[in-house]
Amino acid sequence: MSTKPTVYVGMSADLIHPGHMNILAKAAQLGDVTIGLLTDAAIASYKRLPHMTFDQRRAVVENIKGVERVIAQETLDYVPNLKQIRPDYVVHGDDWKTGVQKKTRQRVIDTLAEWGGELVEIPYTEGISSTQLNASVKQIGTTPNVRMARLRRLIDSKPIVRVLETHSGISGLIAETASTQRDGQTVEFDGMWSSSLTDSTSRGKPDIEAVDITSRLNTINEIFEVTTKPLIFDGDTGGKPEHLGFTVRSLERLGVSAIIIEDKEGLKRNSLYGNDVAQTQSSIDDFCHRLKVAKNSQVTRDFMVIARIESLILEQGLDDALERAKAYIEIGGADGIMIHSRQNDPQEVFDFCDAYAKFENRKPLVVVPTSFRQATEEELAARGVNVVIYANHMMRAAYPAMSKVAHTILEAGRALEADPYIANIKDALAIIPENEA
Ligand code: SPV
Ligand code: MG
Repeated sequence: MSTKPTVYVGMSADLIHPGHMNILAKAAQLGDVTIGLLTDAAIASYKRLPHMTFDQRRAVVENIKGVERVIAQETLDYVPNLKQIRPDYVVHGDDWKTGVQKKTRQRVIDTLAEWGGELVEIPYTEGISSTQLNASVKQIGTTPNVRMARLRRLIDSKPIVRVLETHSGISGLIAETASTQRDGQTVEFDGMWSSSLTDSTSRGKPDIEAVDITSRLNTINEIFEVTTKPLIFDGDTGGKPEHLGFTVRSLERLGVSAIIIEDKEGLKRNSLYGNDVAQTQSSIDDFCHRLKVAKNSQVTRDFMVIARIESLILEQGLDDALERAKAYIEIGGADGIMIHSRQNDPQEVFDFCDAYAKFENRKPLVVVPTSFRQATEEELAARGVNVVIYANHMMRAAYPAMSKVAHTILEAGRALEADPYIANIKDALAIIPENEA
């Protein structure tokens, strides 16, 4: 056993730069260095999911000079690992004195005090930071495989994955860049939804599978040119089983992470009409066949086929929904379940969540709170929901604004009166930063 002092360094190690090297060199001068490598979940609890997976990051860090061993740090909080290791020193950059990590820092100091350990802070290395590198990486973009795999990683590491509808490059850009502070934390959308409703509506067409798959893929391609986040595809009924395999492979080739197909057949109508229009739910056997076709056609391991249950939409009751969920997972091989509802109250979805939570072979659960929109992400996550999709909000925002301006111009016989309803030209140009370059 070494008698050298023990040194603990917690890090994400996603984009290693000279600032990290400086910290590790100083740490190695103090004693035997153990790296507490933050897991994806620990990182996602306070910032963006890392570019590299845990295993990739570990492969890098364990080969850095002076690093004796690497262990997982499962939470942003250092305390569990510190209590186990009881290091003489914790070494960290001095940039955590303010911001999200301030409390974490104080807990490190208090915990070390229990056995006389010491926090050593290294002055921040000027001129380089992970934030800058992240911005450059974002500019470079992503690859289909990296983007595709991100959805599963997000589901594995976040209490709930937050997805926004996109139907164009510009709505994609909003999903990519929108960011705000909620309860002291930065919140962003994790991914995007290609909605059949809004992709059809933005083309002036009804939501009845009249927009062909090639056109749907073109929309996604345009979105992907200007974004890096993962996308879930609304596959409607999946179309003819004989065609579905081609759809799955095209989606995978583009880098789409998942297809959601719904257990309806014949002329598909939007679910939010419910039984106000004629809609037919598929038999369990037929739908499991479609799921199997989709699963058997995928090439990668990362792509997900998610089964959407329309039992509540069509007033078939909770038991029918649960029976289908079980069959779709066990017989159809679904990688996830989406339960849909058009009630204004989330209760029937909550009832489903509670029963579904008891499934032995539970898969990720997706909900689309369009009508039960009062349900918060926190409430949904507490019921075990893994993915929340805001399914049509960008289109519903754009339409009233465009319509209002068109009518205002007609009424006034000129454009001046529309000024209060539109972005000024300077702001409109600034939507695309490259306009300014
Ligand atoms: C869509 O966004 O097209 C959906 C969800 O399928 S819903 O409109 O609620 O059916
Ligand atoms: Mg749809």
